[in-house]
Order: sequence, then C-alpha cells, then structure tokens
Amino acid sequence: MQIDVQKEKLTLGERLPAHVGIIMDGNGRWATKRGMPRAFGHRAGTERLRGIIRISSDLGIKALSLYAFSTENWKRPKAEVDALFGLFMEYFTNEVEELHANNVRIRMLGEKEGLPANVRASVIAAEEKTARNTGLALNVALNYGSRSETVRAVKKLAAEVAAKRLDAEAIDEEKLLAALDTGGLPELDLLIRTGGDQRLSNFLLLQAAYAEFAFVDALWPDFTDELYMGVLRDFAQRNRRFGGLK
Ligand code: FPP
Repeated sequence: MQIDVQKEKLTLGERLPAHVGIIMDGNGRWATKRGMPRAFGHRAGTERLRGIIRISSDLGIKALSLYAFSTENWKRPKAEVDALFGLFMEYFTNEVEELHANNVRIRMLGEKEGLPANVRASVIAAEEKTARNTGLALNVALNYGSRSETVRAVKKLAAEVAAKRLDAEAIDEEKLLAALDTGGLPELDLLIRTGGDQRLSNFLLLQAAYAEFAFVDALWPDFTDELYMGVLRDFAQRNRRFGGLK
C-alpha cells in the first residue's frame, strides 16, 4: 500500500523523531524459512532500505542510522561475510546517484581501516559525493561497535589534550558526544530493532541515553513501510520525560 507521506507528516507534526536508529535483524531467519541461503535474506534486506530511506527523507527526519555490520559480525562464516561485503559494494556503487539526487548525505559509522579496500573506497566516494547535501543524514554502521567508537572518541580528545589544544578539565558531555562518529547530529530519539530480540548489541550506546525503544517481531525483510509508519505513529504518542516529571 502506498503511504501518503505528506498526510502522515501533518498528523505527526512536531512529534517526529529527529534521529532514528535501526538494528536490521532477521535476514538470516527470513531466508532459512524459505529454504534459501542466508545471503538471500541479506539481499532482500537490502531491498527494504529504499522504502525506509524514502519515508524518512520525505517526512523530514534529520538522521537515520542503520546497523549493517558489527565488529562482532566478522565471526560469521567467510561466505556470509563475503556476501555481505558484496552487497555493501553494490549498494554504495549503485544507489549513490539516487540518494544524491534526493539530497541525502551519507556517512559511515565505524572503523574504515578494517574494511576490504574496495568497500572502503566505495564508502569514501559516497561520503565525498554527498558531503554537501542538506537533507536526510544517512549513517551506515559498518565494522561498527559502540564501545570501540567510544574508545576512538576518547583517543581523539586525549590527542587534543596532549597537543595542548584542549584542557582536560574542559572535557564535558557535549565534547565527548561531538567526538563520536555521529558528532554534529541530533541525539537518537528512537531505536528500532526488528527480528524479535530485545537487546542493543553494542549499537549507539551513548547516543541512545534518552532514546525510546521499539522492538518489532517482523524480520527485517518483512518490515514494511506500513510497519515503519506504525512505529513512528506510536513514538508520536509517547510521553518523553528526559528524567523530569512531565
Ligand atoms: C542481521 O540479520 C543483519 C545483518 C547482520 C546485516 C544487515 C544488512 C543488511 C540489511 C544489508 C545491507 C545493508 C546495506 C547498508 C547495504 P541476521 O543475519 O543476524 O539475521 P538472523 O538473526 O535471522 O540470523
């Protein structure tokens, strides 16, 4: 069913999350249920990105962070890791024109050094091409782990202190958050996890301090535009107190 995004936008009004994170879980099970190899599920999962990105962009969500490959995912069989990196390459090569035309700015979260050279090059090219875009900030977490991101942020600040450009006493929450890979983006308002599990899996731990959580049973390739709209409508009803009383 086609979603009338402009109508939804009017209904959600001010209660739209500025930054949405998604843990896209369940590709493997989706494929296994169909008697297919897990890579088939990852491909179906990649195809789901277009709709979710389009709705996010059309609604005026400022940032969308997608967990595509964690630092722990290297433990998977080589064939699956290779299939995933093949998909990332394809995605960053084929989809960038359209994303660019839609004013989307691509940023990778995670450690570029650990990526295969061709994937790293395609990611950097996508980042550079879209760097001046002012629409949706699309963050793809690849070779990402929140703790390792935090360690890198602390090292950046320590280097500033060592170079005497920063006073250790001046380090505050704002500076720590700014040194993370998501620096400059709004804090996470809504974290969605598909696939039925209810855990964070080392994703955006500091950014999620005040995020609302939505755990969805649908496997990622089955997470339709309509299900996404449902989660956004539910978010709009929530009473966020940020530690206060109202
Ligand atoms: C988790 O499902 C999903 C992943 C490890 C990969 C997520 C990747 C994509 C959706 C593909 C492409 C992304 C981009 C940016 C091109 P799982 O394999 O853990 O599923 P399971 O829990 O059913 O085993």
